[in-house]
Amino acid sequence: MLEVIENIRQEFNTFPVDSLEDLEKFRLRFLSRNGLMNELFEQFKGVGPDQKKQFGQTINQLKNQLEGQYQSWKLEFDEKSSASSDADWDFTLPPLPEQIGSRHPLTIVREQMLSIFERMGFNLSEGPEIEDDWHNFSALNFPLNHPAREMQDTFFVEKNPDVVLRTHTSSVQIRVMERQKPPIRTISPGRVYRNEAISARAHCMFHQIEGLYVNKEVSFAELKQTLYHFVREMFGQEVKIRFRPSFFPFTEPSAEIDISCIICKGQGCNVCKQSGWVEIGGAGMLDPNVLSNCKIDPTEYSGFAFGMGIERITMLKYQVRDLRLYTENDVRFLRQFRGL
Ligand code: DAH
Repeated sequence: MLEVIENIRQEFNTFPVDSLEDLEKFRLRFLSRNGLMNELFEQFKGVGPDQKKQFGQTINQLKNQLEGQYQSWKLEFDEKSSASSDADWDFTLPPLPEQIGSRHPLTIVREQMLSIFERMGFNLSEGPEIEDDWHNFSALNFPLNHPAREMQDTFFVEKNPDVVLRTHTSSVQIRVMERQKPPIRTISPGRVYRNEAISARAHCMFHQIEGLYVNKEVSFAELKQTLYHFVREMFGQEVKIRFRPSFFPFTEPSAEIDISCIICKGQGCNVCKQSGWVEIGGAGMLDPNVLSNCKIDPTEYSGFAFGMGIERITMLKYQVRDLRLYTENDVRFLRQFRGL
């Protein structure tokens, strides 16, 4: 019995405890239900009455020593771990200012634009960013040799010339007209891609909003009034609008839409290149071929369409001078739109 006690004492004296894990090993080895001390107490039950007193005292001493040591190690480790996390923390400091995120400026402007058109009765439609040639070009009356189909302008998906990243949201017009009978009045926001080098004024990825109205006897006057109402809601009642004759394969006649420069109020500045006018998009009356391509009878129906860049509108509205800012995620830029 004495020998057993001595062995336990020996093991205790040389047992390495350098961490909380070690301490747990220590507890399991000596103090747990199946540990050495309990084993010793079991043996003690068989000791003769004459030796009980002597052995009992020794065993109790050892037990107290082990438990005392266990508690003091435990205290030491607990103190260490709380010291390391709290030491350099001053609880009297005021709380850090809350970091509240903000919506992205393009999201804000897209929603402003959508809500103006929704109030005019346009509904929302969307189409895929990966398009086929039909919806992006052919149905929109692009001839086969049109320069927009060139590799330099369009991203082709793998080597299949039929699959492209859409170059404009006009593709959604086709998708809507293919599945819906007139009257149609829809607005299609979305991301578009062009094979352009990234600079302050050009990007390979940007956003457009497309508008489409198809009904009986739709007139160019309705197109003008729709866009006039939009720009006044967007930029203020004083803004002026003008249409310049232009060309798009899918509209006839076609126009480019300018508004009076809202930075200099038409006086002439860097943004409008001293002209007093800035371009915001393209528009026109649907080419009869486009209607036919979507199985809508052009002798019965007519329509107008328009397309605008969301980056462009945001640039004018909030005077953003560099397109790259939209995708760099610099919080100093994004923070300025907080609360809008
Ligand atoms: N899709 C044209 C572009 O990306 C913009 C455009 C012009 C859209 C005229 C139209 C339109 O719907 O009628 O440059």
